[in-house]
Formats: sequence, C-alpha cells, structure tokens
Amino acid sequence: MRVNIVHPGAGELQYEIRSIVAFAQALEKTGIDITWENIGDPIAKGEAVPVWITDIVADAARDSFSYAYSPTKGMNEAREFLSQARTEETGTELSPENILFFNGLGDAITKTYTWLNPIARVLGPSPAYPTHSSVEGAHGRSRHLTYNLDPQNNWQPDLEDIRNKIQYNPNITALLVINPDNPTGMVYDPEILKEFVKLAKEFNLFIIADEIYANLAYQDAEFVSLASLLDGVPAIVMRGLSKEVPWPGSRCGWLEFYNTDADKAFATYITSLEEAKMIEVCSTTLPQVVLPKILGDSRYQPYIVERTKAYQKRGKQAADTLNQIDGVQVIEPKGAFYLTINFDDHFLQKSRNLSAQNPEAQKLLDQKLSETDESELDKIFCYQLLAHTGICTVPLTSGFNSYRPGLRMTLLESDESVYTHTLDTLQKALYDYVTS
Ligand SMILES: Cc1ncc(COP(=O)(O)O)c(C=O)c1O
Repeated sequence: MRVNIVHPGAGELQYEIRSIVAFAQALEKTGIDITWENIGDPIAKGEAVPVWITDIVADAARDSFSYAYSPTKGMNEAREFLSQARTEETGTELSPENILFFNGLGDAITKTYTWLNPIARVLGPSPAYPTHSSVEGAHGRSRHLTYNLDPQNNWQPDLEDIRNKIQYNPNITALLVINPDNPTGMVYDPEILKEFVKLAKEFNLFIIADEIYANLAYQDAEFVSLASLLDGVPAIVMRGLSKEVPWPGSRCGWLEFYNTDADKAFATYITSLEEAKMIEVCSTTLPQVVLPKILGDSRYQPYIVERTKAYQKRGKQAADTLNQIDGVQVIEPKGAFYLTINFDDHFLQKSRNLSAQNPEAQKLLDQKLSETDESELDKIFCYQLLAHTGICTVPLTSGFNSYRPGLRMTLLESDESVYTHTLDTLQKALYDYVTS
C-alpha cells in the first residue's frame, strides 16, 4: 500500500469470547462434546422467549410500518416510554430528546469512544467487558487504562486506585462503571457509586455507566441506577434489550444523556454522537416498535424475577462446588448471568497440566499452546480445560483485559442435570490440574 492503511489502534482490538470458538470447533471434529460456556446469549443456551413476547413481536412484524426507517434518534414512542419510566425510576429528569438508539449496545459503545477526542481517555474496570477495553484502547491508540476490581472485597472497585490513576494522568476525562458487572456479576454498593460521582465532580470528569444488566440484578441486591445519584455530573447511561428480553439478535441498545448542559464540551460531544448517528440514518426499527409493549407489560417484571432467581441459584451452586478446590475463589454473583473464577497467585503453574481427551485433540492442543505466550497462564489453562473436558470458557487476562488470572463461564444452562454435570466436571478438572 502507498501508505500504512492499518489504524494505529488496531492492535488493541480483541474479543476472546468469540476467538476461542474456532479452536473449540476443531476439537469438536475430533469427537469431543463441547459445552459452550463462552458467550452470554441466553437464547443460544436454550432459554425460550415467553410466548406473550413472541406474540407482540409477531403482531408488529405483520405491520408494514415496522419495516420502515425509524427517526434518527429512535422511534418517538420508545423514547417517550423510556423517558417516563426512567424519570420515575431515578427521580432524575430524562427527556426523550436525550435518548439515542443504536444497533445494539456494542454499536453504541463503539461510537461513544470513536467520537471522543483521542487524547481524552476513559478509565475503566479490570476485569472488563472487552468491547469497552478494546475500543477505548483503539481510540486512545494505546492500552486501555484501568482500575482494579478487588476480589478480596467482593469485586468492588478499588477507590484509592481510581483516585491515584486520575491524579497522575491528566488525560483521564471519564470514568466507566459496568453495573451489574460483566464478567464478575457484581452489583456495586450505592455508596461506592456516590464516590464515583464525587471523584467526577472533584476532577471535572464525566461518567459512563453500562447498565445493560440493570433489570437482571438479583432480588436481594441493592441495585441503583447511576442516573439517580448524579448530583449534576454529566453522564451517559447505556442500556439495551439483548440480555433482559432476551433478544441479542434485535441489535437494539440506547444511550441516555444526563446533565448535558452542565459542560459545554460535553454538550458538543453529545451533539457529535447524534450527528454521527444521523449520517447512518437510524437503527433497527422493529425492536423499538415493540419495546414499550414488552417492557410495559404486567407480565414483564414477574418474568424477570423468575429468571434472576434461577441465575442466583446457579451462582450459589457454582460457588459451593468450585470453592472446595484450594487456590480457586468464586464470589457469588449479585446480578447478570456470569460467573468469574479467580485463581490465587500460585494456582496456575507451568509445571501443571491437563491432557486432551484423544491423540488428535492433543495434537491440536500442542499446536495451540506453541502459538500462545507462555506468560498467559489462564489462557493456557483455558485451552487445556477445553481439550480435557470440552468446557469452553473465556480466560480473564486476555478475554477481559484483567489484572487477575481466571476464567469466566455463564449461569445460563437451564437443564439442572447438565449444569450440575458441568460443575462437577470442572471441579474434577481443577483438582486434576492442581495435583498433576
Ligand atoms: C457489559 C456489556 N455491555 C454491552 C454489551 C453489548 O450488548 P449488545 O448485544 O446490545 O451489543 C454486552 C454484551 O455481552 C455486555 O456484556
């Protein structure tokens, strides 16, 4: 090429959650049964969408207007519904004009960072959902800057670490909080969220709150939307339909803008996001048409409660089973449908090993390990576990930009005997590894 066509931030793009699929499929061809625990898609994992929801979607699909472009910011009825519901929930006014729809929250996250000045950096959690860390890193043309979530304190954010990072890096312009969190399943204490707001005020920052799992916080978790605590701080709250309806294939997520008038540069940045969306015309229409009918239905809340109870039960079962192994720490999640396995500093060792189920799979594993950096011990363990048991998880360090080694699996398996079998197999593999 006449000039270098590679974006300077391209090296930061990584999505291990799906990258591992090709290796798992190759192992599958050798006769290994794969248990897919890598992707957070309730539908792919066998959850059925309730008939009353599919009926609403089917009715809307029969109406020709559902096939039209929608207004750039989103369907008026959907934005009015959300404006009213969210204002009632948080006590903070959200006008329909401050809601902007995207083709899934992944699209919204990408635009949020892409249209930020490259010198303005967003400090995010570690471990973190990789779309945030990858795209923010690509936007800033260097590694995503992170603060630690502390497994010794129920994965709550380390506030001292946040303050230090802000103080020593004047380019940090925003704080990212993912609540309930992916991958840890933690719900943040409202007092901790208030500290985020205080820090944002003190250092003149804005806050990004990814709340895609908000309605999947468990019943006894004290989930509070950041929008209710803002105290005038400019913020973007991110929400979507993928996880809660659940309808990941709808590609429907939205941004809520708060306190846009509090800062001129923030207001201009928000306008640039709206204009970027206008250039694309609009987002998917059908899910926006049905959004008020689904979220406003009296059957919606009971349906959500039933699902979260099942996730909570599976989280407890996983903690009870896996915490029996020395060096393995599982903190019971408080929301969403993920489980993070945290390894203590001595658990993963180069001298420890799990072998593959058959000679052909062993060849594939050896090849894969020869291409893997030998310092990535949780990735090596994840590949060995896959070839040994067929359980496909995601390593924390490369998959979630994490300072802690570990694995993420899901709480989505609804067949109790299959789920129990997966946990027992995992427990035995962890034991075999530690005694190898
Ligand atoms: C924290 C978080 N934010 C955003 C997304 C993206 O969701 P969507 O399907 O709307 O793109 C995910 C998907 O797993 C997620 O876990």
